[in-house]
This record gives sequence, C-alpha cells and structure tokens, in this order.
Amino acid sequence: MAFLAVGDLKEGMILAEDVFIFGNKLLVPKGTELTDYLINKLGFYSVQRVKIKEISSVDDNESEDLSVASYSKRLKRSSEYKAFKEEFFKSIYKFKTNFFEIANNDEKIDSNELVGRVYSVIESSGGINVFDMLHCMREYDDSTYVHALNTSLICNVFGKWLGMSKKDLDALTLAGLLHDIGKIRVSDSITRKTEELTPSERNLMQAHTIYGYEILKNQDIDERVKAVALMHHERCDGTGYPKAYKSSQINDFAKIVGIASEYDSLTSARAYRDPICPFDVIKQFELEGLQKYDARYILTFLEHISSAFINNTVLLSDGQTAEIVMINKQFLSRPVVKAGSTFIDLSKNTDLYIKALV
Ligand SMILES: [Fe+2]
Repeated sequence: MAFLAVGDLKEGMILAEDVFIFGNKLLVPKGTELTDYLINKLGFYSVQRVKIKEISSVDDNESEDLSVASYSKRLKRSSEYKAFKEEFFKSIYKFKTNFFEIANNDEKIDSNELVGRVYSVIESSGGINVFDMLHCMREYDDSTYVHALNTSLICNVFGKWLGMSKKDLDALTLAGLLHDIGKIRVSDSITRKTEELTPSERNLMQAHTIYGYEILKNQDIDERVKAVALMHHERCDGTGYPKAYKSSQINDFAKIVGIASEYDSLTSARAYRDPICPFDVIKQFELEGLQKYDARYILTFLEHISSAFINNTVLLSDGQTAEIVMINKQFLSRPVVKAGSTFIDLSKNTDLYIKALV
C-alpha cells in the first residue's frame, strides 16, 4: 500500500481505502480504479493524499480468473469498455465548454455536432449494450454533464425501442443531452448539496426547467428540445413541476426524456445516497408508473430495460450470486436467475429478491 499526493496519482491505480469528504460523505469507494476524471474530482474536493494498492496488488487483481469474474468485471476489462470510457469522458469535457458557452454567451447550438458526439460514444462501445456500459460507470456520479450524456444515450436506445425515424431519434438524443442545461444557472451550493434541500432551495432547484427553456428558446433547434427542457419533470398525474401539467398538456418528448432522466438519476450514485439497483427502480416504476408516466412509453421502457440486463450477474438478498437468464413479462422486476446449477424463478420465490448488480 502507498500513500500518494493527488498530484502523483495516475490512471489505473486502485484505491486501497474509501475516500471521504466533509460531512463524512463517501466520495470514491475503496477498490475503485482511478481515471483522469476521478483524479480531477479528488482535486476538486481538495483531497490531499490517498492510499493506493501497490502495483503488484494491481497486477494480482488483473490476473483474477476471468472465467469466474462477474459479467461487469469482465466487461470492465474489455477493450470495448476502455474505448467507450475514453470517448465518454472526451465528450464530457467538450460538452462542459459547449454548454457553458450556450448558457452564458448565447453561442449558437450546432445540433449535428452535439448529436454526432453522442453517436461517436455509442459507436465506441463496439455494439455492447449501452446499459451494461453505463452500469460499469456508476462510480462517476454527481456531474450534471455525466447525467446529460447518460440520459442522451438512454434516450437514443429508448427512441429505437419506440421505432422512431432517424430525424426524431436525433432530436430526442439532443433533447436528452440538453434537458438539464438550466442547472448551469443554479448555484453549486444547491446542486451539490448533500443534505435535504430546504423549501426555498428546492424552488431554486426546480427553476432549472424554466432556466433551461430560457437558454434554448431563441436557438435554431427542434422545438421539442425546448419543450423537454421546460417539461421533463412534469408528470401525467399533475404531481410534477414547474406547471403541474396533466398528461395531455405534456409534450411527448418530455414524457420520454422524463422517464430516461429519472431512470438514470435513480440508478446513479448521488451525494446523499448510493445508486439504487435497476431492478428496484423497475419495481418502483411498475408500482407508480402508470399514474405518473404515459403508458405508451413506460410499458415499452420497462419491458426492454428488464431484458437489457439478461446475462448480468446479480447479488440476491440471501447473499448468493446468480445470473439473469430470463425475464418474466408479468413480473419484470423478478426475473428467472441461475445460481450455480439451480434455476430460481423470483416471481415464485418471493422471499428472495435482487439486491444489486455486481
Ligand atoms: Fe431536470
């Protein structure tokens, strides 16, 4: 084990201890492989020194038998994942500059360029399921830009599930990317706050929808992208914001992006909570989905998202690991899994549930 200054860290080093920040919040967990993004993040939070595993330990880790490693561990070591991660963060740095100029200096939006960047991230995955890639990147949590790109990638897949034309798919991909651009005008002290927001802070946070629309309204882009910035937190039962619109008043693209954005937010780590297991999110959507979301979209999303996790390794509530082998359309959050040589139908074994993807 070595104790290194943040300035001496290099990509690929493995953290030997959890890194905490003020308020005893976990910033980066033990065992995480450092990337440029994470090293920058440690610097951003003024972390001075961290413990890393010795290089020999890293090598030992690398030599673990890949045939018994979980699906996501195997994926993380693939060249496709490395290429995807590199393209993902290259795009994030580009979007940071673009979004700042658009929001603060009225820079003209080049839709083709922005959407082209998202497609280059998709292409870098070499055809591997985007949800599997995003699951492997769940340690990259709290940035508005990571959420924007994740949502855009999810929207692109979602649009294909809905059978959209290329023109609509490109507009939806752009809408996912720009949906939260209004957060640039909300103070970091609110967007990064780790405690519960006060009512006045919550109002300021919710105003990101109005700011987003203001930033985009004079741009020469698809009108639906502007509607998404304003309405992506509206819900069909009138419980959303900023206008508490009902289903017929909400733009279709905003309904779609609302689902993609909510799914990404819940399954990502936040400063105030760990990521929620996708199967818990699916269960939550199953319970309240038809009130809050348009049935045309939420049913398509749930059915496809569950199937996207076939072959993944999961941790069951009794501590054993298993592989997802079949989705049960009646109980999307309770698939059939295989633990060792035993098949377990979770829709029938109701005392067992999926605790996490591993
Ligand atoms: Fe939002």
